[in-house]
Amino acid sequence: MPGKVLMHFAMSLDGFVAGPGHDMSFLAKTTVRDGLHREYIESTGAVLAGRSGFDSAIGDSRPYGGAWQGPIFVLTHHPDDARPAEHVTFLSCPVDEALRIALDAAQGKNVEVFSPTICAQLLRLSLIDEIDVHIAPVLLGDGIRLYDALGGQPLDLRRDGDTPTRTVDLRYRPVRSTLGE
Ligand SMILES: NC(=O)c1ccc[n+]([C@@H]2O[C@H](COP(=O)([O-])OP(=O)(O)OC[C@H]3O[C@@H](n4cnc5c(N)ncnc54)[C@H](OP(=O)(O)O)[C@@H]3O)[C@@H](O)[C@H]2O)c1
Repeated sequence: MPGKVLMHFAMSLDGFVAGPGHDMSFLAKTTVRDGLHREYIESTGAVLAGRSGFDSAIGDSRPYGGAWQGPIFVLTHHPDDARPAEHVTFLSCPVDEALRIALDAAQGKNVEVFSPTICAQLLRLSLIDEIDVHIAPVLLGDGIRLYDALGGQPLDLRRDGDTPTRTVDLRYRPVRSTLGE
């Protein structure tokens, strides 16, 4: 029985998973609830990523601060110039085939897809099972969006355990700078 295919991201309130130039520093200022990372570390069997995410963020680091060790598959059209890294396999194949390879490697655990670009492709193929998002208390204003599908059709979502059409209520206040006061 295969695990789930998760689109799993920390995201700014305005929908960015990275700032300009793949800047992920907004994450350093956030905290998560106790046990959250442990849940994902235990349920994840493989990671599927894109070449930009690998080159800019993964490289020699590993997801969850190195607390998760497992196979990482990186999609690229030119694997020849990729820098080899331990437990990382570069794939140049259709996205659904890459996902099948990752699911096989996950051995019944979940596959986390760490790329908005690849997630959008998988959503179009109805191959994403779940979207897990952790909203960071920040507006980034620019960067890489969780979901971009120019001219795309709306994709209705259902929140776990809730009325299908209910909105989620969040209330934030801007933190005012005290510089110059
Ligand atoms: N906030 C979070 O929780 C979180 C989590 C994970 C990642 N991120 C961030 O998300 C960003 C990822 O950026 P992104 O989605 O724009 O780029 P990306 O998917 O990581 O990389 C795009 C590249 O992946 C390759 N690719 C994608 N689809 C392919 C396909 N079907 N076949 C072959 N190659 C394919 C291509 O590489 P080639 O050009 O080599 O062909 C493409 O240029 C990074 O900044 C990363 O740090 C954030």
